[in-house]
Amino acid sequence: MPKILIKTSKEIERIRDCGMLVAETLARAGEICKAGITTQEIDDFVKEFTLKNGAIPACLGYKGFPKSVCTSVNEVVTHGIPGAYELKDGDIINIDITSILNGYHADISETFFVGKPKPNAEELVNTAKECLYEGIRVCNLPNARFSDIGAIISGIAEEHGFSVVKDYCGHGIGRAFHEDPLVLHYRQRLPGPKIEPGMVFTIEPMINEGIYKTKTLSDGWTAVTTDGKLSAQWEHTVAMTSHGLEILTLVS
Ligand code: MF3
Ligand code: CO
Ligand code: CO
Repeated sequence: MPKILIKTSKEIERIRDCGMLVAETLARAGEICKAGITTQEIDDFVKEFTLKNGAIPACLGYKGFPKSVCTSVNEVVTHGIPGAYELKDGDIINIDITSILNGYHADISETFFVGKPKPNAEELVNTAKECLYEGIRVCNLPNARFSDIGAIISGIAEEHGFSVVKDYCGHGIGRAFHEDPLVLHYRQRLPGPKIEPGMVFTIEPMINEGIYKTKTLSDGWTAVTTDGKLSAQWEHTVAMTSHGLEILTLVS
């Protein structure tokens, strides 16, 4: 059985403070995603902006991850490592930022278009976004369970002929980067735990244009689609409260 921590309103406040910071960091990082810039420049910005605001980039050194942010371009599903790659017109790029502020984590990501998107990329990215927001919406239905999230997301992805990644999932979050429960974005046979007030977690569906399968490159991090087709992801950190689900990663 998963051990899902119940947070106090004070703790949720701390995570919200960090959430506002990562949301602003992400919005600014998205603005610099133009053809010709390198993913290293995005890392430089995120690291500097995070430290300047009194926070710590959670990814830097996490299980040996070498950079401050994940930058996942085109067929990269997740955990792309910033470096010399230069963005080009038509690319899609997921920027995934997690920071630690006053001891609490918040985690957010979004997929941005570089220049003018190709129609298939636009449909994929918009569908991944819809999957996130529908996943959030079902948490507000009466007696919602974690398994409701994967059920709605799978249905939406399948309507478009896309698939849902199974190798990576959402997670509880708080003092630790990754806590129980695992938040699966695909359909499950058994009902999951109930979503109770005080639970704080991420929803972060990765939607593939082709098959759901992923493989990890020799750097030990970069996860790519096995068929080389595109993948898109959107993520928020959310809290169940007595008045419903609150998105904690919003710009103030
Ligand atoms: N931010 C990712 C998530 O959504 C995790 C990145 S771990 C790292 O859970 F080590 F790659 F940074
Ligand atoms: Co993330
Ligand atoms: Co996450």
